[in-house]
Amino acid sequence: MKSTGIDALAFSGPRGYVEMSELAEARGVDPAKYLKGLGQQRMAIATPCEDTVTMAVEAGAQALERFGIDPSEIGTLIVGTETGVDHSKPVAVYVHELLGLDTRCRTFETKHACYGAMAGLTSSMDWIASGRARGRKALVIASDIARYGLNTPGEPTQGAGAVAMVVAEQPRLVRFDPTRIGDYTRQVMDFWRPLYSKYAFADGHYSIQCYLDALSGARGDALAEGDTGFDALAASLYHVPFVRMAWKAHHRHFELAFGDTLEPDRHESWQRFEHSYRQRVEPWLSLNAEIGNIYTGSLFLALIDLLRQSDESLEGREISLFSYGSGCGATYCIAEVAAGANAWKSQLDPAEYLAQRRRLSIDEYESLMQQTEQADLAESLDPVSHGLDGGLYYVGTVDHQRRYRRG
Ligand code: HMG
Repeated sequence: MKSTGIDALAFSGPRGYVEMSELAEARGVDPAKYLKGLGQQRMAIATPCEDTVTMAVEAGAQALERFGIDPSEIGTLIVGTETGVDHSKPVAVYVHELLGLDTRCRTFETKHACYGAMAGLTSSMDWIASGRARGRKALVIASDIARYGLNTPGEPTQGAGAVAMVVAEQPRLVRFDPTRIGDYTRQVMDFWRPLYSKYAFADGHYSIQCYLDALSGARGDALAEGDTGFDALAASLYHVPFVRMAWKAHHRHFELAFGDTLEPDRHESWQRFEHSYRQRVEPWLSLNAEIGNIYTGSLFLALIDLLRQSDESLEGREISLFSYGSGCGATYCIAEVAAGANAWKSQLDPAEYLAQRRRLSIDEYESLMQQTEQADLAESLDPVSHGLDGGLYYVGTVDHQRRYRRG
């Protein structure tokens, strides 16, 4: 069995963000609801000049450059997204051009709400394991903009960003155990975005239930009955639409692992659960709290947070990953942090990007949301007019669907 997994990782996102405390004040909501109830600190906001393509290219370029991978080594490019830019043409083909990848490359887009990138990751590992890759690597990029609209319950769970992963044999960061990957699919109406709308519709509380049911189903498919590996896990990473959801997921995960129902008045098991959450989940949620829901990339943003804080003691340890996409599809898997991964932590750390971001006032944020609604019909867009021109790539004349590199 070939050892495959994630060999390089990088994040890129918009240059503007909103403070959740300011949004709460503007909406007449107790800030504690957003900060503690949802667990969010800030939310990344894209201008009309930043889209799924520009964020994907920036993340992809970083993953290749910082990990010393030549574009000619990439034989598969998959962009997982639920905010594509065309009903027909994949985001991936624009990304292929801008990254200068070889024409001998299989290139496509995957869509299944927040699950698209995990589908791309497992397909890439299958492509390598089958022998069809012939020594080449896959580039899988999760890129999305979460928009629920102003004054909606989903508004504080928006965000935007892209995570790029290079998938290869003998990976430098994370290797997956193909015998412990489990899947789950069920048609549910928890969250959807019809063709006519830039904004998602969600049956919010029902979607939380669907997510937790999918965790039970996918974990059950991944692990043999009676698997006792839970306590050995160094980290449990989840899809993070908002930080508090990871707490709910770990609660369910703990119950599944021990076949017991957790109640706060059963002090011993409750304390064990809280300790487990503080040790294995909470420390890796800081990027999600800063950036918000980036849909397909949210799980992998938590992985970046884990690896950027790693030390050698994490190497060789097992972790669990759970990806959920509304609608719904999910995968639960067990992976191992690779020997030597610690040496790469500064390359994958988005600290520099975070330091360059600019805080948007609520007026600026609302104006950007309105401009984005009109952007598809605009003849041209001026990135400088948004005062957020820090990105390397930007959307130019939208009519012609071109993205440009600065300089
Ligand atoms: P809501 O109804 O406005 O909020 O919507 P709430 O009343 O449920 O409150 C949220 C939490 O804040 C609760 O915590 C409250 O108790 C607490 P909980 O009890 O659940 O632990 N709270 C407070 N805490 C402290 N001080 C206060 C206070 N007030 C309340 N003063 C909801 C919340 C998430 C439903 C909404 O934002 C929404 O619809 N979001 C979008 C859907 C979503 O994110 N679903 C998550 C699961 S589905 C998924 O992850 C897939 C997805 O990423 C899409 C995809 O796959 O593409 C969404």
